[in-house]
Amino acid sequence: MLTKMQKIIIKETEEYVYQLLKDDPSGHDWWHIQRVRNLAKNIAEKEQGTIDLFVCEMAALLHDVADGKLNKTEADGERKVRNWLSRYSLTEKESEEIMEIILHMSYKGGTNKVVLSSIEGKIVQDADRLDAIGAIGIARTMAYSGSKNRLIHDPSKEARDNLTIEEYRSGEDTAIMHFYEKLLKLKDEMNTTVGKQLAEKRHAYMEDYLNEFYAEWDGER
Ligand code: ADP
Ligand code: NI
Repeated sequence: MLTKMQKIIIKETEEYVYQLLKDDPSGHDWWHIQRVRNLAKNIAEKEQGTIDLFVCEMAALLHDVADGKLNKTEADGERKVRNWLSRYSLTEKESEEIMEIILHMSYKGGTNKVVLSSIEGKIVQDADRLDAIGAIGIARTMAYSGSKNRLIHDPSKEARDNLTIEEYRSGEDTAIMHFYEKLLKLKDEMNTTVGKQLAEKRHAYMEDYLNEFYAEWDGER
């Protein structure tokens, strides 16, 4: 159960994040945050053990505010979130836990190998990854790729392996390549039991989508 004060903090944080991200064209807009928050709450309700719902919800709300893609530098992003949290009298443990999750959960082309130690971190990371796959994940990938003026698909290009973060962000890929460079890998990287179950279903949907895509591409259907 959240306290009255925690509910107020969450409400104000929601408004802050909404204002920051509402117009983001790259698939990291406010509705991505809202979906991740709802998924995190859904997973937290079903997972076993003691879960700090306040930390979960705050980390879900703030998880993209510090992102390197949306700030001049990662340090700038981190400062932004720390400043926001310092408005409230959170315990040291709460703010450190939230910061730890936000700073370490990003996928970064698979180069980010930090395993989040807290159950709250595992849940929020799973929620963020789930929003990258399935029907929503496909839509976000197409939107992101379009926002970077990239092609949907180019059969002469092959998906790359073992990317460095520079290569991952270099823009040499198409939307379809991104399925192989990230989306299809996520189901095996889920942390929680509930997250894994949800990921299996979304993964199967993407495989069906790709089969249909290639058949239509070749004019077979
Ligand atoms: P993270 O923030 O976890 O490092 P990304 O920013 O790489 O992850 O990805 C967030 C979402 O943005 C992806 O799931 C995908 O939908 C979209 N995206 C990121 N990079 C690309 C890309 N190169 N091509 C298409 N979509 C992308
Ligand atoms: Ni995110």
